[in-house]
Amino acid sequence: MTTRTPLMAGNWKMNLDWKQGLSLVEDLGDALKGLDTSAVEAVVLPPFVDLRTVQTAVDAGKLPIGYGSQDISAHESGAYTGEVSASMLSALGASYATVGHSERREYHGETEQVTNAKVKAALDGGLTPILCVGEPLEERKAGKQVEYTLAQLEGGLEGLSAEQVGSLVVAYEPVWAIGTGEVATPDDAQEVCGAIRDWVRTAHGEAAADAVRVLYGGSVKSSNVAELMTKPDVDGALVGGASLKADEFAKIVRYLE
Ligand code: G3P
Repeated sequence: MTTRTPLMAGNWKMNLDWKQGLSLVEDLGDALKGLDTSAVEAVVLPPFVDLRTVQTAVDAGKLPIGYGSQDISAHESGAYTGEVSASMLSALGASYATVGHSERREYHGETEQVTNAKVKAALDGGLTPILCVGEPLEERKAGKQVEYTLAQLEGGLEGLSAEQVGSLVVAYEPVWAIGTGEVATPDDAQEVCGAIRDWVRTAHGEAAADAVRVLYGGSVKSSNVAELMTKPDVDGALVGGASLKADEFAKIVRYLE
């Protein structure tokens, strides 16, 4: 069981247009009413077009959550067609930016250098990066999950101070578990989440290792979250499909109740 504030983050991916997003936001407002936000932090990561809807509900006191983006530009502003900067997101009240999701790495060719630049851009713009790392099936079969994941972690965190590393969130998402219904066992999740924290301890010291939050992601549901959360180095979950239904996501967020 984690000693840090658990974080449950819902990555909507490329789902829900503004009307559908509004409907989920309204349903989430009902499902999360009275949430004890000192015991657990809930966050949604909607498509950019839905962020303003979330902001409006949060500002009106109808939704006890934080929010952020699924990606971010590595640049501050200017001629970068199609991109959205950290400062734009901060101005919208966002507090998180997902960086290096395996779908960004796979379909958009994002390298360690790119994720590293985006982590820095998020921090510079006042956002907390959620850096995603995790091995594909071949690496898992070869028993190289820790080695592979730590190489991504090291690349993504290059040049950061201990204080910065302690402030961020790392999401361990084994690629073979994403959207497949095949969740990692709690022991598999603990093995890599623990290795991530050990790496942070060695590279940046005890305080950073104690503070950094490490999430597990990949086919998390209300039926498996509590078991995953029994592990000491699993501080929360990054949830895809199950975050698109208000009741299901609320059950995940309320796993302690
Ligand atoms: O970022 C969340 C994610 O990739 C996991 O997706 O649908 O397996 O929960 P899902």
